[in-house]
Amino acid sequence: MKQLSVEHLLGIKYLTKQDIDLIFETADHFKEVINRPIKKVPSLRDITIANLFFENSTRTKLSFELAEKRLSADIINFSASQSSVKKGETLIDTVNNILSMKVDIIVLRHPNEGAGVFLSNHINAKIINAGDGTHEHPTQALLDSYSIREKLGSVKGKKVVIIGDILHSRVALSNIFALQLQGAKVMVCGPSTLIPKYISSIGVQVETNLKKALQWCDVANILRVQNERMHTNYFPSTREYTQLFGIDKKLLDSLDKKIVIMHPGPINRGVEITSDVADSEQSIILHQVENGVAIRMAIIYLLAQKINR
Ligand code: NCD
Repeated sequence: MKQLSVEHLLGIKYLTKQDIDLIFETADHFKEVINRPIKKVPSLRDITIANLFFENSTRTKLSFELAEKRLSADIINFSASQSSVKKGETLIDTVNNILSMKVDIIVLRHPNEGAGVFLSNHINAKIINAGDGTHEHPTQALLDSYSIREKLGSVKGKKVVIIGDILHSRVALSNIFALQLQGAKVMVCGPSTLIPKYISSIGVQVETNLKKALQWCDVANILRVQNERMHTNYFPSTREYTQLFGIDKKLLDSLDKKIVIMHPGPINRGVEITSDVADSEQSIILHQVENGVAIRMAIIYLLAQKINR
């Protein structure tokens, strides 16, 4: 049986192209399962998963929970705002206490970059990174590529522009790694203050003119401005940001081709994207959410294969 080359899902940068192919093949199977009247399989009846969210989340948390339930795993949920972290407990102590309750897999969202890697060196459980600070968000990038593959037949050779706050976005970095691994061409577009200086050194094109970027691409993945991670002003005003980098229907219709519109959510309607674009037939935003469950089922299933039971 084919297996992943990794013991944890800490970031796309640790995966091979074969790993991504295996995850997608497995997700194809689970996508079929979740479209059946009975959306559940007994595969992981002997597995216990803890969802540890030290940062807010709607989609990702619900998507992981649903994926786990559809695999028949036992689950426990933890969110930092209601926990003893506020009483001064360290991350390792918190997690070791949870593990002593016989947990096999940890899904971790944490504000610190590298939190998953750190934990994987200290505890005995499989770890899935559900977003670590501004670093990586591997399951989001996998579901994004899977959605492109579903819509356009393949990722290889496609031109994808990631638009907006690249600097603070873990979705951007994981997408760049995933798209490049599969042979797509990647461009970023946004205010120059929100584009990291190193980006061209990793083979990513930079364009600050939105219309030119959209005219170049097959797919536009639009990101939210991550105000909560900004401690200074990166652009003069939200109004100016919207004027220069917001996508509306008029702009979309002015292109000489029909591009695919994506967004990881949460959307700020009227800021980076207008409602008539988000809800248009070019948008695959809700397909991304649907595919998220199948992708997360695939990852959990494949990592669970590697547990000695
Ligand atoms: C993203 C995240 O949390 O990094 N959302 C998500 O997981 N769907 C993007 C964001 O918060 O803007």
